[in-house]
Amino acid sequence: MTFGRGMLAEWLLDPDVTYLNHGTVGAPPRRVLEAQQRIRNEIERQPSAFLLRDLAVTDMGRSRRPEPLLRTAARAVAAFVGARETDLAFVENATTGANAVLRSIDLREGDEIVITEFGYGGVARAAAYAARRAGAQVREVPMPYPVEHPDAIVRAIEAALTPRTRIVVVDHVTSETALILPVAAIAGRCRERGVAVLVDGAHGPGAVPVDVVSLGVEWYSANLHKWAFTPRPCGFLWAREDRQADLHPPVVTWGLDHGFAVEFDWASTRDPSSFLAAPEGIAFLEQWGPGAVRAYDHGLVWEGAKRLASAWDIEVSVPETMVGTMITIPLPEGAGSTKADARALREALLFEDRIEIQLHAWRGRLWVRLSGQIYNDMSDVDRLASAVRARF
Ligand SMILES: Cc1ncc(COP(=O)(O)O)c(C=O)c1O
Repeated sequence: MTFGRGMLAEWLLDPDVTYLNHGTVGAPPRRVLEAQQRIRNEIERQPSAFLLRDLAVTDMGRSRRPEPLLRTAARAVAAFVGARETDLAFVENATTGANAVLRSIDLREGDEIVITEFGYGGVARAAAYAARRAGAQVREVPMPYPVEHPDAIVRAIEAALTPRTRIVVVDHVTSETALILPVAAIAGRCRERGVAVLVDGAHGPGAVPVDVVSLGVEWYSANLHKWAFTPRPCGFLWAREDRQADLHPPVVTWGLDHGFAVEFDWASTRDPSSFLAAPEGIAFLEQWGPGAVRAYDHGLVWEGAKRLASAWDIEVSVPETMVGTMITIPLPEGAGSTKADARALREALLFEDRIEIQLHAWRGRLWVRLSGQIYNDMSDVDRLASAVRARF
């Protein structure tokens, strides 16, 4: 099968909706959801044995499995992102992983957490909370935009580092601006200054090649449910070995001080089926080829953006090398400029045109973030082009 709307047969997505918003919460294929359901059925055959003994290392007695099930699943995820299984643990989502790090680091009064203007609001709040409790500060670095070259971002972050900077939080792929950031180069500059780096990889795995170790960072917190086709919620936190001892999940429970992987795995009662089905999501991606999927998604949003630019009379001013599977471009001048304008247009597109897409107000105008996935094709982009053109 070739990529395009025909692939919708593999998804539960409503074919009457033009779904150009894969990035927001992902969309797991049918096959992956079926695998998750099989896991749930298996749990329910003997719930206490499965959840208390088979899933993780606990002190609840003998498991029926040779290895804790979360570790087997973690091994598949680790192989996908170039990590060791022992350095990676499942978390519900990227925000949870970022919270674990920000609330575990030893911040002192007067210390600084550096975040960027492109950072995700939820994670920025977690940084603000961690700072507030310690009497530390958050420094938000203004970002150059349009970005001529990724080096401009490296320079801006480096210039914001001070002797009080303890940690830099940087996105692998930014949320609203949808830019791939030069994480390894940023980490290199931070390392020279003795500053640790937490990567928010919410849009990383599946959308860009991820080899966590080679990035040279201390922590990488990511989602698999966005671009690696896993069920929701499914994220992971990777931590460099020397940073694991003081790292605790935001919800502290029985596993406390049993070591990184055991502590994160031995959580209180929860539904682990999305974590255990993660290898199925990765297998789906591997079946089509991660490189082929990324290339298709990228080609669609890059060519699609050019088509929208000519339909709407706007400029696309992002370097292609910083664009992955999503692209953010301005809407036509007359589309408005406020949060209320963004909301009104988003709702009009959804309720009147059945187009689901992320859009927002920023720097005095409205912007749209186009996600590409293998179930989309240019006809989806054309529907968006005409629906917006008809209004402005
Ligand atoms: C950069 C970034 N971080 C974090 C998140 C939050 O993801 P989640 O709600 O799955 O934690 C998003 C969501 O789009 C994001 O773009």
